[in-house]
Order: sequence, then structure tokens, then C-alpha cells
Amino acid sequence: MQALQVLALLLLSGVFGKDLQECEDLGNGSYLCREIESFEQLNRYVGKNWKSVKVVNEHTGIERAEDGELPGLSTLLQLDLSESGGVTLGEKGLQDFKALQKLNLTHAQLDELKSEQFPNPSEMINFDVSYNDILAITTKLMSGFGNLVYANFSENLIAVIEPNAFRHMKNLRFLDLTTNYQENITLGENANLRFLSISNNNLRDFQWCHLRVLPKLEELHLHSNWLEHLDMGIFYALPNLRVLNVSNNNLFEIKRTLFMAPGEIAPLELLDYSSNIVKVLDDSVFCRLKKLRTLNLWLNQINRIHPRAFLGLSSLQTLHLQGNKISILPDDVFANLTALEKLDLSKNNIQKLGLRVFGERILRKLIYLDLSNNYIADLHPLALSSMPFIKELRLRRNRLVSLDLRMFAPLRQLQLLTINENRLEEIDGEILDTLDRLNHLELNNNRLTFLPDLKSSQNLLQLRNITLEGNPWQCLCLDEITSWLNGRHVSYARPSSAYFSGRKPLCVVTPMDKCLRDLQETKAQGIVESYEKI
Ligand SMILES: *[C@@H]1O[C@H](CO)[C@@H](O)[C@H](O)[C@H]1NC(C)=O
Ligand SMILES: *[C@@H]1O[C@H](CO)[C@@H](O)[C@H](O)[C@H]1NC(C)=O
Ligand SMILES: *[C@@H]1O[C@H](CO)[C@@H](O)[C@H](O)[C@H]1NC(C)=O
Ligand SMILES: *[C@@H]1O[C@H](CO)[C@@H](O)[C@H](O)[C@H]1NC(C)=O
Ligand SMILES: *[C@@H]1O[C@H](CO)[C@@H](O)[C@H](O)[C@H]1NC(C)=O
Ligand SMILES: *[C@@H]1O[C@H](CO)[C@@H](O)[C@H](O)[C@H]1NC(C)=O
Ligand SMILES: *[C@@H]1O[C@H](CO)[C@@H](O)[C@H](O)[C@H]1NC(C)=O
Repeated sequence: MQALQVLALLLLSGVFGKDLQECEDLGNGSYLCREIESFEQLNRYVGKNWKSVKVVNEHTGIERAEDGELPGLSTLLQLDLSESGGVTLGEKGLQDFKALQKLNLTHAQLDELKSEQFPNPSEMINFDVSYNDILAITTKLMSGFGNLVYANFSENLIAVIEPNAFRHMKNLRFLDLTTNYQENITLGENANLRFLSISNNNLRDFQWCHLRVLPKLEELHLHSNWLEHLDMGIFYALPNLRVLNVSNNNLFEIKRTLFMAPGEIAPLELLDYSSNIVKVLDDSVFCRLKKLRTLNLWLNQINRIHPRAFLGLSSLQTLHLQGNKISILPDDVFANLTALEKLDLSKNNIQKLGLRVFGERILRKLIYLDLSNNYIADLHPLALSSMPFIKELRLRRNRLVSLDLRMFAPLRQLQLLTINENRLEEIDGEILDTLDRLNHLELNNNRLTFLPDLKSSQNLLQLRNITLEGNPWQCLCLDEITSWLNGRHVSYARPSSAYFSGRKPLCVVTPMDKCLRDLQETKAQGIVESYEKI
């Protein structure tokens, strides 16, 4: 009896072993098949309940070799050949996959797609053919794909799209043509398209009227092309556009006429104009963009901003202006941006921040302000008074010599403050007393020789991290500071910095027997000079 069972098992594994080895049941009708050389071979494995197949080949590609019919393939809904080691479609191609709805042909080494290689009409909904060498998209090819919702042609060599190739695709919502060789937009009409990317192609200036018939388009990505000038009236062509990315082109201006819209209010929520060569922001240039939430202008050459440049941006939450050439911020330039949460002005040439730059109205939502990497020497003590809810203030790498209590007193919510790499000589005890929510403070690389006496104070209760090194601390003062920090479990050690010797920041040994807390006297003692000699 037992011997018979063993024999039966051996027989079974002998007969079906190959199947078990080559196709693995993943559940729910999904199968993973390995080392499949042809669709004929796949046809022999596919069972009645199979819905989805992924072919994974390490040693071979897959091809359509013979001419006969392959009825086993006609019920499959999904086919993934992205790891099949290259696909040779031949004359009949994928014709036998009559019910196919989702096809992944990425990395298939294809240079051409022909309509005869697909069932016609096709049930296809989701078609990913990215990472191939396809040169053209023809009207004939696309005519069979009336059900397509998602088409991904990114990472090919497509220079030619026959005009109106996508015109009859009433269900198409996503069309991705990123990284191809398109020089012109020849897409034509499409009733339902929501997402279009022609980023990283060779697009030159074109007129929105070429896109006129994309009434539902919500996202248009055109970054990394050769655009120099954007035509006017984008919302006449694209009345539902919410996202526009024209980053990394050669655009040299932003014109108010670009945003002309049929109604008073334009629908745009995100505008990415970063990495271009814009120099000037004119009066009221964005005034129609009342729904705009994110404005990316980083890495342009902006050196002049009109005081009313940001007028009307009443929903704006994030404004990125870093990496420009801004030296002067006019009065009221950020006034009335009452939805603003995050403002980045780092890496500019700002020398002075005046009293009225942020206007008089309280910016209740503003919690993040980055002014680091500028040349700010003159920071008006009340410049930040309209942002009492700010949590992160970054002032690293400027030219501040002193801090004014009036600036910090209103900032009761501050959690992170960076004022490292400035020229601070002294920090007033009362300033530290106001920072009762602060948990991260960067003070390194200033000219501080002492801090106010911390022992008795009840301030800085939330402090978790501080950076100290690179200051000409008197060693006795530093000892007091570090023992206070140790007692509070605040971390300060960054031994990887060059300003540490072991676990301790470098400091200046003085002839005094206590920490001297008088700026005039420490100057008289030449402490900074002796530190610089270390
Ligand atoms: C099978 O499908 C059901 C319902 O769609 C799902 O909940 C389940 O996680 C799937 N199982 C596997 C193994 O994919
Ligand atoms: C196609 O397969 C590739 C690689 O496996 C994967 O990254 C991609 O997301 C797939 N495409 C779709 C639309 O599922
Ligand atoms: C198209 O495919 C590329 C490459 O896999 C991917 O990065 C991109 O997100 C896809 N596009 C869409 C709209 O899904
Ligand atoms: C771009 O395409 C449009 C519309 O198809 C056509 O009118 C225009 O002449 C083309 N421009 C170039 C430079 O090929
Ligand atoms: C816009 O395109 C740039 C590439 O130049 C990319 O880095 C950025 O993430 C895109 N922005 C959005 C909001 O998608
Ligand atoms: C800000 O609002 C005030 C009062 O509504 C108005 O007088 C002023 O012109 C506005 N300034 C800017 C720059 O938006
Ligand atoms: C802050 O200090 C804690 C230890 O107290 C440390 O784990 C953490 O990495 C530090 N964070 C930063 C941003 O330095």
C-alpha cells in the first residue's frame, strides 16, 4: 500500500513536475511563470481559471513563433511581460489575448508596435509600454484601443505622433509621454484626458490652441523641455487645469496674460516654474490664481519683485523662492498671504529685512520661514511680528551680530531655531526665557564666548538638541553649559565636527577663575582672537 502511494507520488511529480516548476499559483487566478520562451509554450500551461500571468525569464526572451491559433490565451485578463527578457511580437503578436485588459510591456526591447499585433477591437484598459525604443505612434495603431484608460509611453524614442492619434479614445485619462523626442504637440482632441506628461522631450514654444480640445485635463507636465515663452490664455484651452509643471525650461518671464481665464478665478492649484531664468516678478502677475496652493519659483534669477507681485494669492500655502538673486524685499510683498504655511527665501542675496515685508495682518498659518544662506545683517526687530505661530525659523549662515528681544518675544510657538554661522557675540538671557517651546537650537560657529547663566533659569524646558561648537567659548563657561545640558539630557556632542576635541567642543582657557559674562570685558581680554589662533 505504502509502496503504491510512493509510486503514485513519483508518477504525479513526473507528469506535473514541469508545470509546478514553471508556473506558480499566487492565488486569485494569478500565476507567475518562469523561463517561458514563447506564447505557444505559455498557451500549454494556461488553465481555465487563470486571470493574470507574469512571465519572468532570466535566460531567454519570449516570442510569438508559429502561426496557429492559441485559444488558451483568449481568457487571460492581465499579462505582465516586463521581466520576460525582451519580447519578439512577430506577425501575430498578442492577437490571441482577446480578453486582455492590462498589459505590461516595459523593458521589452520593442522598437515598433503594429495594429495587427493586437486584438481588434481590444479590451485593453491599462497599457504600459515604457522603457522601449518605440519611434512613432500611429492613428492606425491606436484605433483599436477604444477602451484604453491608462497609456504609458514614457522612456521611448517617440518623435512622431500622428495628429489626432488619440482622438477617438473616449475613455483615456492618463497619457504619459515623458522622456521621448517630441518637438511639437500634435495630440489633438481628447474628451476625457485628465493627466498628460510630455516632460523631458524636445518641445519648443507652442500655442495652447494645439491643446484646445482637452476640456477635462487636470495635470499638465512639461518640465525639462526647451520652452522659452508660454503663450497666453492657458485656461481657455484647459479650463480645468489644476497642476502645471514647466520646471527646467528656458522661460525668461512670467506673464499675467498666461493665466487669463474665462471666469474671474482660475482653477490652478499647483504651479511649478522652478529652474527657469525668470528675472522679474511683475505687479499682480498671479492675481487670477485664487486657488493656487503651491508656487515653486526656486532656482530662477529673480532679482526684482514688485510689492504687489503676490497680490490675490489668497489660498497660497507654500511659496518657494530659494536660490534666486533677491536682494530687496519690498514692503508688504507678503502681506495678506493669510493661507501661507511655508515660505522659503534661503540662498538669495537678502541683506535687510524691513519692518513691513510681511505686512500688518497676522499670518496665522505661517509655521515655517527659511531665511538661511543670505547676507542678512539688518533684521528689523518687528519684522516677524505678524507670524506669532511660527514653529521653524531658519537664519543659518547670515551676518547677524545681535538678536533683539522684541523679535523673539512674540514667537511663543517656536520649536526650531537655527542661527548658526552668524556673527553673534551675545544672547540675552531674556531671549532664552521666551523660547519655552524650543526643542532644537543651532548656535554653532558664531562669536559667543558665554551664555547667560542657565542654572537657575526655568527656560528652555523643551530643549532636546543644541549645537555649540565653533564658538570661542571660555572653557569655564562651556563647562557650565555642558553640565547644565547633561543634567537636562540635551544632546550637543557632534564629535565629527572639526570644532571638537574628543567629545568636547574646543574652548579658550582664560586667566579668570570664573565664567565672565560681560561682552566689553571679554573683548578686552581678546578671547575671540585667542580662539582664532587655536
Ligand atoms: C484575493 O482577492 C481578494 C478580494 O479581491 C483579496 O481580499 C485577497 O487579498 C486576494 N488574495 C491574494 C492572495 O491576492
Ligand atoms: C509594469 O512593470 C514595471 C516593472 O515590473 C512596474 O514598475 C510598473 O509599475 C508596471 N506598470 C503598471 C502599469 O503596472
Ligand atoms: C509611466 O511609467 C513611468 C516609468 O515606469 C513611471 O515613472 C510613471 O509614473 C508612469 N506614469 C504614470 C502616469 O503612471
Ligand atoms: C506643430 O503642430 C501644429 C498643430 O499640429 C502645427 O500647426 C504647427 O505648424 C507645428 N509646428 C511645428 C514647428 O512643427
Ligand atoms: C516638476 O518637475 C521637476 C523636474 O524638473 C520635478 O523635480 C518636480 O518634482 C515637479 N514638480 C511637481 C510638483 O511635480
Ligand atoms: C492687503 O490688504 C489691504 C487691505 O485689504 C490692502 O489695502 C492692500 O493693498 C493689500 N496689499 C497687498 C500687497 O495685497
Ligand atoms: C537630537 O538628540 C537626540 C538625542 O537626545 C538624537 O537621537 C537626535 O538624533 C538628535 N536630533 C538631531 C536633529 O540632531
